[in-house]
Amino acid sequence: MHPAPSDPTTADAVPRPAATRLRLALYEPDIPQNAGTLIRTAACLGFAVDLIEPAGFSLDDRHLRRAGLDYVDLAVLSRHPSWSAFDGWRRGEGRRLVLLTTSAEMSHLDFAFGDDDVIMVGRESAGVPAAVHDAADARLRVPMLPGRRSLNVAITAAIVLGEAMRRTNGFPPVAG
Ligand SMILES: C[S@@+](CC[C@H](N)C(=O)[O-])C[C@H]1O[C@@H](n2cnc3c(N)ncnc32)[C@H](O)[C@@H]1O
Repeated sequence: MHPAPSDPTTADAVPRPAATRLRLALYEPDIPQNAGTLIRTAACLGFAVDLIEPAGFSLDDRHLRRAGLDYVDLAVLSRHPSWSAFDGWRRGEGRRLVLLTTSAEMSHLDFAFGDDDVIMVGRESAGVPAAVHDAADARLRVPMLPGRRSLNVAITAAIVLGEAMRRTNGFPPVAG
């Protein structure tokens, strides 16, 4: 793991190449396989991950390690002990919080992403509480067909991070 600049958490001193300043926040995640999948994606594409605790598993969880493989050790991963600690940190950084929620009215396709945005997904079992919902600078949904409740959280994050990185020219170079 590696801290972002001025990150409040600690990690090792190995420099990690970052393709983008975009970050992904996981709000109190429940399912280690989803977190492992997203941490692997982050390590491959070059965005940092903010893990907002408490989580329903430890970073040593075998399911997380199985989904994340050795990429878990290559990811830029910051742990925040609570929602308020995370929110204080990101406000201090001057970063917008972009919440992905099925209750949003705006499509992710209509949003002007900035390369400092923190894109946040909710807990698998319960989304986010109202206070967290209200604290976001923007709330977006991935449009779905009528009658469908929600996407898998890792798939949601991948769809939106992919779009945000494309719009902000954040992907690593092909030859990289
Ligand atoms: C399984 S869903 C949670 C469902 C929960 N019952 C709720 O009301 O939020 C887990 C997370 O995935 C994200 N998500 C799933 N489908 C989405 C969609 N179509 N648009 C935006 N976010 C979505 C949200 O961040 C959500 O909090």
